[in-house]
Amino acid sequence: MRSYASIVRFLEEAIGLDPESIGVKALEHAVSSLAERSRIPDCRRYLETLKHSHADLQQLIDAVVVPETWFFRDSEPFVFLREQVQSSGLAIASAAPLRILSVACSSGEEPYSIVMALQEEGLSPQQFHIDAVDVSKKAIEKARQALYGKGSFRNGSMPYQSRYFSNTGHGFKLDTAVSTLVHFSIDNLLSDHFLADRTPYQVIFCRNVLIYLSRKARSRVVAHLDRLLAMDGLLFAGHAEVPFFQQAGYVPVEHPRSFACRKPGAVPQVKKKPAAHAALVKERASRSACGAVQQTEISPHLPLLKREEAAPSARKHKGKAPPPESTSAASLITAVRTRADQGLFAEASALAEQYLREHGADAEIYCLMGLIQQARNCPEPAEDYFLKALYLDPSYYDVLIHLSLLCEHRGDTARAALFQQRAQRLQARRT
Ligand SMILES: C[S@@+](CC[C@H](N)C(=O)[O-])C[C@H]1O[C@@H](n2cnc3c(N)ncnc32)[C@H](O)[C@@H]1O
Repeated sequence: MRSYASIVRFLEEAIGLDPESIGVKALEHAVSSLAERSRIPDCRRYLETLKHSHADLQQLIDAVVVPETWFFRDSEPFVFLREQVQSSGLAIASAAPLRILSVACSSGEEPYSIVMALQEEGLSPQQFHIDAVDVSKKAIEKARQALYGKGSFRNGSMPYQSRYFSNTGHGFKLDTAVSTLVHFSIDNLLSDHFLADRTPYQVIFCRNVLIYLSRKARSRVVAHLDRLLAMDGLLFAGHAEVPFFQQAGYVPVEHPRSFACRKPGAVPQVKKKPAAHAALVKERASRSACGAVQQTEISPHLPLLKREEAAPSARKHKGKAPPPESTSAASLITAVRTRADQGLFAEASALAEQYLREHGADAEIYCLMGLIQQARNCPEPAEDYFLKALYLDPSYYDVLIHLSLLCEHRGDTARAALFQQRAQRLQARRT
C-alpha cells in the first residue's frame, strides 16, 4: 500500500480521530498491518472493505484509539463528585436515580471509579444509574470482564484496590457489587444519533478524548454533550480539555483540578445537608481517621487548598478563601489556580506575578499564566508562557499538550505534531 491519506481521512470522518494526535506514522503502521492481515494489500480495496465491513472497521478502530486510563485518574474529579453528593449539590434525594454518563470510558476504570465514589458516599444502587460508552469494542469487552492489571491502579487508588478487588493470580477482579452497576455499550460520539433516545444526565464524564479529535469533530462532540447534559448538570473534562467547553460558554467550577464545568447560566444547587446525611458524614470521618477512606469533611467552600494540603490553620477559614498574601509557594500557586478557575483573570495574574517576585521562576506558575492568557483569548502570550514553563521543565506533559493545541489552532500542524510526539514519548516512558 502506498497512499494512506484516503483511509486516514475516512477514519477522521468516522470517529473524528485527528491523525496528528497519535502520529501519522503510527496510524499508517496500524492501517498497513491490518490490511495485510486481511490480505488486502491494495489501499483502495481496503478502503472499500472498511466502508462495507463493520467488523473490519471495528478492528481498525480498536487498533488506533488510545485506551490509556486508570482508576481514579486525576483524583480531584472524584473528590468533587463526592462533595457534590455530600452537599446535595446533586439532586439525590429525589425519587429518580442520579443519571451519570461516562463517555469514552475505555476499559471501564472511569465509570467503576464513579460507582466506588458514590458507594463511599453511602448511596445505594437504586439511587444512581450509570451508562458507559466507548467506540472501541475491545475496550468495552475488557470493561465487562472487570479484570485489571497493575497499570490500572495509579495515583493512590490502592485503598480501593484491597476493598473492592480480589487478586485472582492473573489480575484483580472487581467485586460484582460494583461491576454490575455500570451499563456498557459501544457507540460513537461522532454518530448523528449518538444516544439520541436518552433523557439528560446530571453528570457527564467525557475526559481525555477531545484531545485526540479534529477541531470539527470536537465541536460535534461538544454539541452532543450539551444536548445530553441536564441544565444544572456537571460536565467533567480532561485536564487539557476544559477550554473546549469554555469556548461554548461553559463555566469551570471552583474546585481546583476537578476540570468540571457547568452550562452557561446554570446555578449550582448547594442545599443544606439533610439530617440523615449527618450520620454518614460522621461515619466517614471516623473511618478516615484510621486511614481507610479519604478525608471528606473539609468544606467545599475552601477552594484555595487542595484537600491533602489543607493545614489546620487553613481550616479556620472555613467558608471563605484564605487571604492571598498568605505565604507559602504552594498556597500561592493554589490561589492562582483557583482565581483562574473562577474566571478572575486579573487577580490570578497579579498573584502569579507576586509568586514570581517572591519565589522566582517556576514551571507550574508559567503554565498557569499560559492558561490564563489562553482563557483570555491571547494565544501569543499564552505560548510564550508555556514555552517558559517547558524551558524550566522539559518533561511537563500538560504544557506539551497545551502547546500542541495552540499550534494546531493557528494551523501550524507540523509544530503541533512535534509537541504531541514529545508528549507521547513522555507518556510511553512513564507507563
Ligand atoms: C484516553 S481514553 C480515555 C479514558 C477515560 N475517559 C479516561 O480519561 O481515563 C480515550 C478513549 O476514547 C475513546 N474514543 C475515541 N474516539 C471515540 C469516539 N468517536 N466515540 C467514543 N469513544 C471514542 C477511545 O476508544 C478510548 O477508549
